[in-house]
Amino acid sequence: MAYETIEVRPIAGALGAEISGADLSAPLGNQVFAEIHQAFLDHQVIFFRDQTLTPDQQKAFTRRFGPFGETPFVTTLDDHPEIIEVVKQPGDRTAYNFGGNWHSDFSFQPQPPMATLLYSREVPPYGGDTLFANMYLAYETLTPGMKRIADDLIGVHSARRSYSPAAQYQHDQLSGMEVKTDDSAYATVEHPVVRTHPETGRKALFVNRVYTVGLKDFSKTEGAALLDLLCRHAERPELTCRFNWTEGALALWDNRCVQHFAVNDYDGYRRVMHRTTVAGERPV
Ligand code: OGA
Ligand code: MN
Repeated sequence: MAYETIEVRPIAGALGAEISGADLSAPLGNQVFAEIHQAFLDHQVIFFRDQTLTPDQQKAFTRRFGPFGETPFVTTLDDHPEIIEVVKQPGDRTAYNFGGNWHSDFSFQPQPPMATLLYSREVPPYGGDTLFANMYLAYETLTPGMKRIADDLIGVHSARRSYSPAAQYQHDQLSGMEVKTDDSAYATVEHPVVRTHPETGRKALFVNRVYTVGLKDFSKTEGAALLDLLCRHAERPELTCRFNWTEGALALWDNRCVQHFAVNDYDGYRRVMHRTTVAGERPV
């Protein structure tokens, strides 16, 4: 599509585009918003730089896309129950970081968030990039045989690896965030391994290393082996892009067709992000 009010510059072959010409702190006109929404569908993850956003302004932009998603386990900002402050402190020298493995946000929910907005308030001098993977391409580039297998699979998703009480010690290593694990993390939901995007009609692979814990009607061993094949395929570098944050940047990604990974390579530096989500529908 031809954009008239914004500029859209792809950052990689697989997905991701930087948008310029929009000030997200002000109410957006319908045409600008329509073009941003189109760029989001066309590129799966879009990035804006040099934005100055208060929590209220980030929430107002988020609400243009729909109602907020639900935020379990992770303590939100006192005055803003819709915002998670993702923080790593200089003293947090730990192998664990928030979002530090391939995942689609909260895919353990019956209706996972359709989109996530992450706004950088403080960034390390180097590192702390976020990787994104195009799950449409992950599906489309499967071999015909694997496609046929994947088409019939049902994934079992659960928060247990991240948010069951056994994982509490990991969260406690991050001094700037509060996470309260509990037994509700053992609940499971089933989502198709290949889902159809409700807005584009394209098929996307919908499995991830963090929350997809098995496959319906397969043994633990079988499920783990098949999931590993699918995940390894989806994580190939040519299916990804990498965003290097600067202060005041905002990433907006589509959890229905993107998974992401926060790189933990900036020990000794602070990184602070504000995260909001937009509610989604049950994957089909
Ligand atoms: C998240 C997440 C990635 C990052 O907030 O859901 O995965 O780079 N964050 O902080
Ligand atoms: Mn995430």
